Amino acid sequence: MESNTKPFTTSRRGLLRAGAALGASAFGTGLLGAGLSSTAGAQGMYSNAGAQSISTRAEALTKRDAAILRFLAAAEIIETDLWQQYNELAGIQDADVPGGSGNAAYGKKIATLDSDMAQYIHDNTEDEMSHFTFLNAYLKAKGADPVNLDKYRTLKGSQATGAQKDLPRLTNLMQLSVDTSWWTRYRSRTANPDLGGAFPQAIPALVKGQFPAIPRNDDDLKPDKHLQAIANTAGFHFAFIEQGGTSLYPSLAQAVKSPEVLRILLSIGPTETMHFQTWQDKAGNYTPLTDPTNGLVFPDLNSKPLGGEDFQTNLIMPEPTAFLSRKFPVVSIIRGTEAKDAAMGALKALEDDGLFVGQSREFLTVFRDLARAADAA
Ligand SMILES: [Fe+2]
Ligand SMILES: [Fe+2]
Repeated sequence: MESNTKPFTTSRRGLLRAGAALGASAFGTGLLGAGLSSTAGAQGMYSNAGAQSISTRAEALTKRDAAILRFLAAAEIIETDLWQQYNELAGIQDADVPGGSGNAAYGKKIATLDSDMAQYIHDNTEDEMSHFTFLNAYLKAKGADPVNLDKYRTLKGSQATGAQKDLPRLTNLMQLSVDTSWWTRYRSRTANPDLGGAFPQAIPALVKGQFPAIPRNDDDLKPDKHLQAIANTAGFHFAFIEQGGTSLYPSLAQAVKSPEVLRILLSIGPTETMHFQTWQDKAGNYTPLTDPTNGLVFPDLNSKPLGGEDFQTNLIMPEPTAFLSRKFPVVSIIRGTEAKDAAMGALKALEDDGLFVGQSREFLTVFRDLARAADAA
């Protein structure tokens, strides 16, 4: 829970990683060459892994298992697109996660959450790339269609220094309505989204408006409190996104037939939880303030009238809560994990977040069809 305001620099671990990347694996090089193409990277990894090493390749996937993997691949492509935008401005740009050149002013504000934020943003981005690349490669190995959303990369991204200004995006990080109820969801000792209950917002104003989580252009780099509010928004958004993955994988795992597909979901899902746990710790280091340009308030969650266990910023371990039925004792768990309509629920959360503001109806239809097939609705 340590907050640190060391200047924004590439960490020692970042340099070590960058050094290691020079001996680039085919995987790293493939991604570098392919940019964010959702198929080229997958092909690279597939040929690398070798078809023979996939133990059960002869068995076809059930329709539902393929649909679940395809929805997850789409969700991971979305995650990669948004994390890439954060990495360009406030992460570490290297052979593993190429693109952009960093924005020193924004990076410095992000680093108020933790001096290692640049490394964490980089690593989260790399993880998402590996998730969709693996899922697509596995689908192909099983004779199923991989997911490619490249034709929907149509949104104009940040025009701030450090961003790839001309690169069209899938997601919009500049008009977000961030739901911060994950904060109290994991602190509540009585409520569980699967059993009902209310989850107050940590930062109520964030979900009510539309706010940038990255500077839209260099005008957003000042005044100081405005840029800090943008960085705070990003800090809460990171946890929102990864909390979604934390619930999505166990929810969908319950519908999977193949033991190997189940193994995939049980092996990727907890990495989303590792991300969420890191981000909820970092979000607690935010600077309470009011953005002078738009009135966005980040209240002090440790002081009255808030405070208390549902808001205290260092309570980052999940509190035990009700699970399955209130007749059982409370237990510390991921919440929710309801299987019904899990993919549609995840899609709705991404839409409500504002990530698809400006996206085409066709894109939303395609994504909804993928979700519906995964839910077998
Ligand atoms: Fe992921
Ligand atoms: Fe993730």
